[in-house]
Amino acid sequence: MKQQLILCVLLQLTLLPRCSAGGSPSCFAGRPFYHFAPPQNWTNDPNGLILFQHQYHLFYQHNPFANEWGHMSWGHAVSRDLLHWQHLPLAIAEDSVMIFSGSAVYDSLNTSGLGGDEGALVAIYTGHKSGRQAQYLAFSIDGGMTWEKYRGNPVLDRELTDFRDPKVFWYEPQHQWIMVVALPTQHQVAFYHSPNLINWDFLSTFGPEGNTGGLWECPDLFEMPIAGRDDHRWVLIVSSAGPHQGQNGNQYFVGQFDGTTFVNDHSAELALYLDYGRDFYAAQTFNNISIDRRILVAWMSNWNYAGATPEQGFRGRMTMPRLLRLYPDDRGLRLRHEPMMDLSSFPPLIALDGASAEEINAQLSLLPAETAYSLEVDAAASLNLSDGAHSPFFSYRNNEQNLIFNRSNDASCFSHRDYAAADTLHLEDVFTGKFTLFFDSNSVEIFCDDGVCVLSYLLFPGISLNNLKMSGKSLRNVTIRSLHRP
Ligand code: FRU
Repeated sequence: MKQQLILCVLLQLTLLPRCSAGGSPSCFAGRPFYHFAPPQNWTNDPNGLILFQHQYHLFYQHNPFANEWGHMSWGHAVSRDLLHWQHLPLAIAEDSVMIFSGSAVYDSLNTSGLGGDEGALVAIYTGHKSGRQAQYLAFSIDGGMTWEKYRGNPVLDRELTDFRDPKVFWYEPQHQWIMVVALPTQHQVAFYHSPNLINWDFLSTFGPEGNTGGLWECPDLFEMPIAGRDDHRWVLIVSSAGPHQGQNGNQYFVGQFDGTTFVNDHSAELALYLDYGRDFYAAQTFNNISIDRRILVAWMSNWNYAGATPEQGFRGRMTMPRLLRLYPDDRGLRLRHEPMMDLSSFPPLIALDGASAEEINAQLSLLPAETAYSLEVDAAASLNLSDGAHSPFFSYRNNEQNLIFNRSNDASCFSHRDYAAADTLHLEDVFTGKFTLFFDSNSVEIFCDDGVCVLSYLLFPGISLNNLKMSGKSLRNVTIRSLHRP
């Protein structure tokens, strides 16, 4: 097994995909090229996202010992471009208390007294101990490299079983810290405020509103400018049940926040979703970044089957980071997603306009068996994508205004009921059929119509460039790029 693994690593270095040290050789397509995944073992939620001294810090829910959930601690990595990550030592380790999800802030004014003249990075996380959850602090005075737990922990304890995932940010108008934290079983979030990150006072709650199936977890709250208007709104996001029955997802609410209360602009029944795939949960945005750089990262999996996905030394990955923008349209304000990847820096392998599907597929079959690539296409009428051997995994029909994503062909690799189901998404009639798909080993993220909707899915097996087959009518501006690291 060990020799196989070494060979596997060598093959990866030569960029040969579909390397496997066990199980079926074609199910696991290797480490992702431009998505974050832990060096080994388990991850779920992104935690403590913060831009600090020109580096993006990503902490993550991590089991340092195994490929399954447990011993929750914060792993750590940094990046300058959000695509290439440098793995760092474990940041906050479990002791008698598990380190659940939370956020990180830069306490530049040293309001907490935990830092020196330069202040400190402070992590605010949920400590989970035998059926009791409370909010805890850890701090770093060396830019996040090493962390110390605050001796007065916990800093906020309501003696609850489910009270978790604090997101903290600085609220300048009142010169204080605000925390939004989930009351999961009540389908509510609670707001607290503090002058110093240590003493917290209750402000208000929001919810239940929108989708109240499943638990509410991992909230985030931020202000956003409205594109094209001299105005802004606050966006509250919460992990919950998603757009597909019984599956995880992330919803968002658009409204006003005055330092005390969040008021939803929309009716309490309306549920808006960040993503329409099955593998998008626990989304969070970066702290310490300007208001027009709202960058979102989510865990790319689903609790219904996360512990059972094919794996090879690590299990779990993050989505591609996305820049959020808030646009007005005739339904109200909606978020759009822009992938944080400049495709123009990757030269096209194929660029065809007006070619037939046969011509496109003939060119695709000559390409290398790479698993990290993008596909841009304007599919005015229809589009089907398949692995060449099975019925399409993705279809778009303009006349029916719907998208269908179907993983039921993957049964030989991963046969979980909630993984295999087919999803149909009905679109607004303004939809133009323009898609950009980002494939990486074992995943695809489908951006439609300049980010009006995104669908994130894991794929077992992955679909390599030379296996991809397209069909459809009037496939315009087909561009394929390899996204393997230069
Ligand atoms: C969300 C979550 C959080 C919790 C963490 C534990 O995926 O359930 O609510 O803090 O995972 O790992």
